[in-house]
Amino acid sequence: MSPTTARAVRPALVRRVVACAAAAAVVVPVALFWNASRLPAQYSITQMGSVEPGSGPRLPGQLAHEAHGHGTAGGAGTISVANLVEDRSGPADVSVTLTARSERVELTPGVEIDAYTVNGTTPGPTLRATQGDLVEVTFVNESVPDGATLHWHGMDVPNSADGVAGVTQDAVPAGGTFTYRFVAEDAGTYWYHSHQVSHQQVRKGLLGAVVVEPAPAAPEVVGPEVAELLRDAVDVPAVVHQFGAHRTVQGATGDTAVEVAPGQAARVRVVNSDNGALPVWVSGAPFRLLAIDGTDVHAPTEVRDQAVLVPAGGRADLLVVAPDDGTAARVELGGSAAVVVGPADARGEPTRRPAVTLDPLDYGDPASLGLDPSAATRTFEYTIGRRPGFVDGHPGMQWTINGRTFPDVPMFLVREGDVVRMTIDNRSGEAHPMHLHGHHVVVLSRDGLAATGSPWWVDSLEVGQGERYEVAFVADNPGIWMDHCHNLPHATEGLVAHLMYEGTTTPYLLGKATVNQPE
Ligand code: C2O
Ligand code: CU
Repeated sequence: MSPTTARAVRPALVRRVVACAAAAAVVVPVALFWNASRLPAQYSITQMGSVEPGSGPRLPGQLAHEAHGHGTAGGAGTISVANLVEDRSGPADVSVTLTARSERVELTPGVEIDAYTVNGTTPGPTLRATQGDLVEVTFVNESVPDGATLHWHGMDVPNSADGVAGVTQDAVPAGGTFTYRFVAEDAGTYWYHSHQVSHQQVRKGLLGAVVVEPAPAAPEVVGPEVAELLRDAVDVPAVVHQFGAHRTVQGATGDTAVEVAPGQAARVRVVNSDNGALPVWVSGAPFRLLAIDGTDVHAPTEVRDQAVLVPAGGRADLLVVAPDDGTAARVELGGSAAVVVGPADARGEPTRRPAVTLDPLDYGDPASLGLDPSAATRTFEYTIGRRPGFVDGHPGMQWTINGRTFPDVPMFLVREGDVVRMTIDNRSGEAHPMHLHGHHVVVLSRDGLAATGSPWWVDSLEVGQGERYEVAFVADNPGIWMDHCHNLPHATEGLVAHLMYEGTTTPYLLGKATVNQPE
């Protein structure tokens, strides 16, 4: 080889080696990230992520998690979620069978869809109980191919009845049954839905409302005037659900007429079972926002020209009095459906969404929270962000929780009795309706502005882009509880964390090799 040739070759070779090295410097770490993001074929939720003890004391269960979060330390003092059952025994006060089926449903004449029904309809029957009742639901999955469960959204049931496939039970296969037993502890509007492949099964209608009436001796929160109106109010569950282009209310498209005499009231229990927030307002009459996420507002005042924004998964109970002049009041559900409250032949004029949205931060009168946030024993940050990366091998813009992607997300660890403060900070570019299972959470502040109205108890909280909410709750319901976004496709994409009580274990597994896929 002549020196001339050697000189000609060397730069090309160097360039190629440099290029290869550069490519490898990019490809190898990316491949490693890709590989590391892939979920095991089966795993326990307790083995994922890293334990977040918050500001509180280090908990015994943590020792086993030191390196990369692994389960709860075994041995004495541990309890399986399967044993966290309702401790009241004896016959149930309310006993129902709910049967899920995959079938065609006619939405309106000529419009048929593939749906999942409960007892033959979507939504399924409204489950009614009185506060304090022992409820027993026999769930039958007749023909939902992927298996199904029932989750009692907003109800603080024992953990074994929470209905999360792969965390609190195995999905019930087609042909199988499962019994849920719990005491309906709190009055209010709740709902049930499948928590197996929930982004599909909820969309296809495997859901229904739950109404818990207050116990006869329940203290009056709403005030005497409202209590008087409520005495003969017509009770109207209104599960709002989008099937393709069709917005439905209790399964029907268009307006739903509720016959109410002039001067008489209706309690319209709006349940938002969709993935986006639902604006609700009233045409032709003022209204009161009676309850948010099941909890009565303390001294709800009359509202005019304001919309209520119901987050995905959330509920709003509106008290509407039919106008004295014989016209109807219309509870507008997003503008494409309404509950029409008035005499049989009255129509009412639709109106546009008011420019002002009611702010629960200063609605109603303050009252005792029943907990002291200043004496919190644990504080957590739940910061939602977004960045490029992989989740289970899929590239894309990923949701992050405290900077990490699923499954490497925090496992918020508490001890029973903790008073917990959590800051939910959203810097992800999109709104997220955040939902903690098994607990009622009270809003303390938004963007540093303290709550001054009625205690604002939620289980589904719309956290807008750039917003920062501080909430508090009492850790009084042991178990492993999801704390996720209720825009269910977001949960599927990894916007899911859990709250775990120290010493809790689960025998259930998730992953492709199992039947369980909760999101
Ligand atoms: Cu309404 Cu985790 O769900
Ligand atoms: Cu979200």
